[in-house]
Amino acid sequence: MIIYRKATMKDVENLHQLINDFASQGLMLPRSRNALYETLREFIIAEDEGQFIGTGSLHITWDNLAEIRALAISPQYQHQGIGQKLVAELEMEAKNLYISQVFALTYQVAFFHKCDYRVVSKEEMPQKIWKECINCPKFPKCDEVAMVKNLII
Ligand SMILES: CC(C)(COP(=O)(O)OP(=O)(O)OC[C@H]1O[C@@H](n2cnc3c(N)ncnc32)[C@H](O)[C@@H]1OP(=O)(O)O)[C@@H](O)C(=O)NCCC(=O)NCCS
Repeated sequence: MIIYRKATMKDVENLHQLINDFASQGLMLPRSRNALYETLREFIIAEDEGQFIGTGSLHITWDNLAEIRALAISPQYQHQGIGQKLVAELEMEAKNLYISQVFALTYQVAFFHKCDYRVVSKEEMPQKIWKECINCPKFPKCDEVAMVKNLII
């Protein structure tokens, strides 16, 4: 049975490996252990019989906006609805915080469409979300797609 729970320090090595494996394929941004420690409370973990199988995080940007980040499912567990469930869990966290809009910067447009996100032009997003882009290896040539979803709170 798959459970979804908040991350703990015991998850950091698994997070580091999964995220950076995908990052080395150019699918997502890398994360240092330091960055994982500092943002650990933003992460939720999908676990199958005690085995780490995926993750995602919710980063608050503003009073009414939060970003879905670092979504990653182990290859052998993909296409089983786990990514969609993780997104739903992160949206529920946003709703519980009275945050009415979530967004992702992603290459996985078809997946986020399935989760009811719509593509918006990057210019529509507030300047503040680009604050951390300076640390991105792709800066300033960002080729990710901005996608948003309004939540009913
Ligand atoms: C993208 C990712 C998180 C999707 O997770 P997943 O658990 O495989 O997705 P799900 O099984 O929940 O899929 C939900 C729906 O999206 C679709 N979908 C998933 N990945 C897709 C893809 N790459 N292309 C097209 N559709 C996709 C599925 O077909 C499914 O549709 P269905 O309900 O009609 O069958 C996962 O493939 C992954 O970890 N990829 C590598 C890292 C990455 O790219 N992360 C995204 C960073 S923003």
